[in-house]
Amino acid sequence: MARSNPGLLLGLLLLRLNWCLGVDGGGAEEGGGVFPVVVSTWPFREAVRAAWDVVKTGGAGGSAVDAVVAGCSACEELRCDGTVGPGGSPDEDGETTLDALIMNGKTMEIGAVAAMRYVKDAIMAAKLVMEHTGHTLLVGEKATSFAISMGLAGPTNLSSPESIEKWSNWRQNNCQPNFWKNVAPAGNCGPYHPINIPKDPVKSAVWENQGITCQEWLENDNLLEPTNSHFNSVNRHNHDTISMAVIDKMGHVAVGTSTNGATFKIPGRVGDGPIPGSSAYGDDEVGACGATGDGDIMMRFLPCYQVVESMRLGMEPRDAAVDAISRIARKYPDFVGAVFALNKKGVHAGACHGWTFQYSVRNSSMLDVEVITVTP
Ligand SMILES: *[C@@H]1O[C@H](CO)[C@@H](O)[C@H](O)[C@H]1NC(C)=O
Ligand SMILES: *[C@@H]1O[C@H](CO)[C@@H](O)[C@H](O)[C@H]1NC(C)=O
Repeated sequence: MARSNPGLLLGLLLLRLNWCLGVDGGGAEEGGGVFPVVVSTWPFREAVRAAWDVVKTGGAGGSAVDAVVAGCSACEELRCDGTVGPGGSPDEDGETTLDALIMNGKTMEIGAVAAMRYVKDAIMAAKLVMEHTGHTLLVGEKATSFAISMGLAGPTNLSSPESIEKWSNWRQNNCQPNFWKNVAPAGNCGPYHPINIPKDPVKSAVWENQGITCQEWLENDNLLEPTNSHFNSVNRHNHDTISMAVIDKMGHVAVGTSTNGATFKIPGRVGDGPIPGSSAYGDDEVGACGATGDGDIMMRFLPCYQVVESMRLGMEPRDAAVDAISRIARKYPDFVGAVFALNKKGVHAGACHGWTFQYSVRNSSMLDVEVITVTP
């Protein structure tokens, strides 16, 4: 079609300069509508296989929720890319903490843990929150206590020789890059205090009260603007997530995520991983979405909620995915991120911004997992 229409081809090329569109095969992202189907961010083949093994036969044990747990657990054990499970993404103190979420698209129940310490089974902890509490999200050391009290292993050291080495190198590099902005002192490891441009004498007096001297203002003049240095450090190996969607034989949808967050994050930071509607969302009536990327930005837009709601209003998965990403890119042209969309017909598509994205699919007409590349 494009070959016989140079205008359309040019249009597509121009579109691709700005946006990356998920295309599998010759541009047809149509699925046959036969369940089950498993979709995951990135080429996490083992995780998709683990989920597929749970749902392929159906039956009591083959629920979408169980498949998501199996898939994300596989990634945690394999420490996919070093960004899922223990042993990766040290924070400023060198510690690894975990975020995870699971959502049942039949009941809209959600369980999540955030900044969880000392327990490696993040997705299982999220499932325990969903199935054994009336809550949705538990955080920090209290999430740890909950998980251990419910039978998960711990306390466990979540560091690895690799994460400790990465952290030591970063310390030696004066803790650069980092996620701070508008702070002094610049260019070293802190502790930091806030600085702003004093616009009037009253404010200047306030800053003086806080013990910030004029000398510090002057010395840090070049850093008074947000440096955004962390944007440059966001890439596939320091900042991403497994986000998985499953539709089981009964047509039930479940989604889940697991991640150890952003490398050198400020302790206490929670990313998009455990935020419903941001990293993942699913509804039996519509379909599902998974997201990955700069979670600090993405969680401001709830891109997966957007994708699912757009599909509910009739958008095709590809259009819904592109729309969700474009809403973010309009406000943050430098953000790095991606989503996949999956509707109830089994049609899947992806869209991304700022990097090349890949997602993995297994459905009943595939002999094994297929990885789809979404190129910038
Ligand atoms: C599986 O996905 C492929 C596209 O990746 C599609 O062509 C095929 O029809 C799908 N099969 C089913 C059963 O949905
Ligand atoms: C945790 O493990 C790391 C790396 O294996 C090690 O350097 C660190 O000392 C350990 N922490 C504790 C409290 O045992």
